[in-house]
Amino acid sequence: MCITQITQNKKQYLSLLLLADEQEDMIDRYLEKGTMFVLDDDGVKAECVVTDEGNGVLEIKNIATDPESQGKGYGKKLLDFVAQTYCDRFSVLQVGTGDSPLTIPFYEKCGFKRHHIVKDFFTTNYDHPIFEAGVQLVDMIYLQKPLAVKKQIGEFTLLHNELSAEQFIELWQSVGWGEDPSLEQTRLAMEHTLFRVSVFHKDKIIAMARLIGDMGLDYYIKDVIVRPEYQKKGIGSLLINELLQFINDNGISGTDIFVELCAMPDKIPFYQKFGFDSNEAQRLKMMHTVKNPSIALSGEPQ
Ligand SMILES: CC(C)(COP(=O)(O)OP(=O)(O)OC[C@H]1O[C@@H](n2cnc3c(N)ncnc32)[C@H](O)[C@@H]1OP(=O)(O)O)[C@@H](O)C(=O)NCCC(=O)NCCS
Repeated sequence: MCITQITQNKKQYLSLLLLADEQEDMIDRYLEKGTMFVLDDDGVKAECVVTDEGNGVLEIKNIATDPESQGKGYGKKLLDFVAQTYCDRFSVLQVGTGDSPLTIPFYEKCGFKRHHIVKDFFTTNYDHPIFEAGVQLVDMIYLQKPLAVKKQIGEFTLLHNELSAEQFIELWQSVGWGEDPSLEQTRLAMEHTLFRVSVFHKDKIIAMARLIGDMGLDYYIKDVIVRPEYQKKGIGSLLINELLQFINDNGISGTDIFVELCAMPDKIPFYQKFGFDSNEAQRLKMMHTVKNPSIALSGEPQ
């Protein structure tokens, strides 16, 4: 499978473009200025067009999967590709669509949330009524997804909030922590995560950590995993520093941050380096109290 940018003769994909936007002169409004990508997997399966809307917003103007290949993950792959390709230049990925059960659930599955509405967009801009799933489209619903922060640290790439359930399970399996969590359980856990960090080496996911909790209540650091072959290289410290930096940047203070070590007392010295104290009553739960927003970030390689 490969995703390629198309710079010439974009109209050769008109039949796909029309699946997402059925009036050709509306497509003409953005096709030339837009950047087009095509996903090929033993034949062209999907396309998308994105435009720079200013203020750090990148907009998906058109996305379509060939009808026979829908529901196989190609649409999501294109959105993930765009998110990862542009996250160092844009802060938000946006899409506008009709209020249709054929599209909104797809974007929500891909991490977008409803943001704003442009009233009567379809009835004003299109020369004929547009129906989807038997319902006339009237307003344009805009959905947005914040793009990950991407940092290059030596040969490692670090991403904020892009860890997927599938990547989580892959890392979980790499350290053999027992029975694998189900995909459904993991997706739910990801939704209830305040902040996720993942680390990549040459496109391979090699480490992750996440923070859960609510503003003002306790916070928990969970699922800190570095692939065995990448341990003892400072990546664990990178993860904890990134979580503490998030806490610092968000002005979280006067609260407790816990890390539960389950049956791994050998990890206590690692967390002690970051100012965590072991709780004697429950030796395997360590606590880091944030007394003021400026945490001294330190730490040596794991
Ligand atoms: C919308 C569209 C691009 C989705 O592409 P796709 O390749 O079929 O989507 P994927 O297979 O990648 O779906 C990703 C996830 O969204 C879910 N999803 C997709 N369409 C859905 C729908 N209508 N209702 C509920 N969930 C949906 C999938 O089940 C999948 O969930 P999973 O990760 O839990 O398995 C495709 O249906 C399409 O081309 N439609 C016609 C053109 C169009 O309307 N474009 C959008 C214009 S705004």
